[in-house]
Amino acid sequence: MVKICCLGAGYVGGPTMAVIALKCPSVEVVVVDISVARIAAWNSDQLPIYEPGLDDVVKKCRGRNLFFSTEIEKHIGQADIVFVSVNTPTKTRGLGAGMAADLTYWESAARMIADVAKSDKIVVEKSTVPVKTAEAIEKILIHNSKGINFQILSNPEFLAEGTAIQDLFNPDRVLIGGRETPEGKKAVQALKQVYANWVPEDRIITTNLWSAELSKLAANAFLAQRISSVNAISALCEATGADVAEVAYSVGKDTRIGPKFLSASVGFGGSCFQKDILSLVYICECNGLPEVASYWKDVIKVNDYQKSRFVNRVVSSMFNTVSEKKIAVLGFAFKKDTGDTRETPAIDVCKGLLGDKAKISIYDPQVSEEQIQRDLALKKFDWDHPVHLQPTSPTAVKQVTVTWDAYEATKGAHGVCILTEWDEFRKLDYVKIYENMQKPAFIFDGRNVIDPQKLRKIGFIVFSIGKPLDPWLKDMPAVV
Ligand code: UDX
Ligand code: ADP
Repeated sequence: MVKICCLGAGYVGGPTMAVIALKCPSVEVVVVDISVARIAAWNSDQLPIYEPGLDDVVKKCRGRNLFFSTEIEKHIGQADIVFVSVNTPTKTRGLGAGMAADLTYWESAARMIADVAKSDKIVVEKSTVPVKTAEAIEKILIHNSKGINFQILSNPEFLAEGTAIQDLFNPDRVLIGGRETPEGKKAVQALKQVYANWVPEDRIITTNLWSAELSKLAANAFLAQRISSVNAISALCEATGADVAEVAYSVGKDTRIGPKFLSASVGFGGSCFQKDILSLVYICECNGLPEVASYWKDVIKVNDYQKSRFVNRVVSSMFNTVSEKKIAVLGFAFKKDTGDTRETPAIDVCKGLLGDKAKISIYDPQVSEEQIQRDLALKKFDWDHPVHLQPTSPTAVKQVTVTWDAYEATKGAHGVCILTEWDEFRKLDYVKIYENMQKPAFIFDGRNVIDPQKLRKIGFIVFSIGKPLDPWLKDMPAVV
């Protein structure tokens, strides 16, 4: 029986290992983590992450060939294949701060593997890492190997949150990078065998190590670039009276471009896009490619512009001040069908509104008050440094309330901002919301989930990203 151990029971490690266990009944999978609370949650009925379909998969395999444990050393020792999917945050201090990936967690994981291994192992990079990390890890393993053979593979994960289980069941591709030596090729084949249990062979791509590492960074950069492109066009649509949805539809009909990932929004979020682009930018700069670095940096610049443009639109529409006005925020997660708030645009939008002294009332169907208050108190890039979790700021707490009901959040509000595209926001009773709001009642749709014409008929002043401006907004001078 092949034994797999995965270090890191997070958004990547948890679902990926659960699906491997489901699809490969003859493989034993143990997911380990330094966080006792996280492992306890994986072993309970309340899993630590919300992901449609995940509960079912875990229920089917947990205790059979899927286990969650804090006994890291023991399970690494017993494993044939060790996946590493630990945090790779952006560095917050020292060389490369604000750009380079912080490999502290990766390095300590590698040292631990070298320390406890008593038999040959295949070590698989699962978390996104900068190109050539495998080489560094290999050096740590080999220099501490005590005669044990380690083969390092890069097997980046392409799942998207909210659709993780479907993505894992039916991946566009599985990418495995390895050394081009006989031992390296053997290790690639061993991992390929695991995926071949359910993934068609022609979707399993094998490359060299560096290509696999770079492919992951490049894929995320390309995806983020599409969103920044459509968001840049959304600003021009608002200025010219074009409709970004119509433009995106026409553009996407070109089969060379394709229709996916062209929804204009208040900005992209999530744990990967910004971090991976920053990492790409840093690698380019280190390799003497400043023009390439600057090209990718602009994808982030446009994303930041989109978020501040949204805040400016809110403030300027409401007579240039939101001071002490109640603004309801519907949606805090970085996208629908997840409770994840890492790098969510809602953080920057809320901070922008708080900077103008607004009172914010937030509702998200999956995000807790504790999480929101913590997010609003954290400094940029600190969210992925678990040991540095900071206390919530008392001033932020006073200006921000969190409710479990959209009608409560919007009651008495001057304006509503929709920041996540939860399906339920399409079906709210907007007549009821309008009646309970201050007048004039504003709605700023950062995800284009509502029909602006219908809401204007109710009486709202409506702003939708990239749509022809409400007559009201046309008369309000705005720095956007
Ligand atoms: C992403 C990649 O899609 C995935 O392949 C990789 O493994 C991890 O990073 P994820 O961050 O989970 O996945 O979500 P994704 O669906 O890519 O969305 C990222 C952000 O872009 C979200 O904030 C989303 O709302 C936004 N987005 C997406 C848009 O604004 N417009 C779109 O058209 C698509
Ligand atoms: P991702 O989205 O990449 O899965 P997460 O932050 O959700 O990232 O998960 C990473 C997990 O890795 C966290 O639960 C963290 O506690 C865990 N972790 C970090 N370092 C180690 C380590 N050395 N050994 C085991 N787990 C670790």
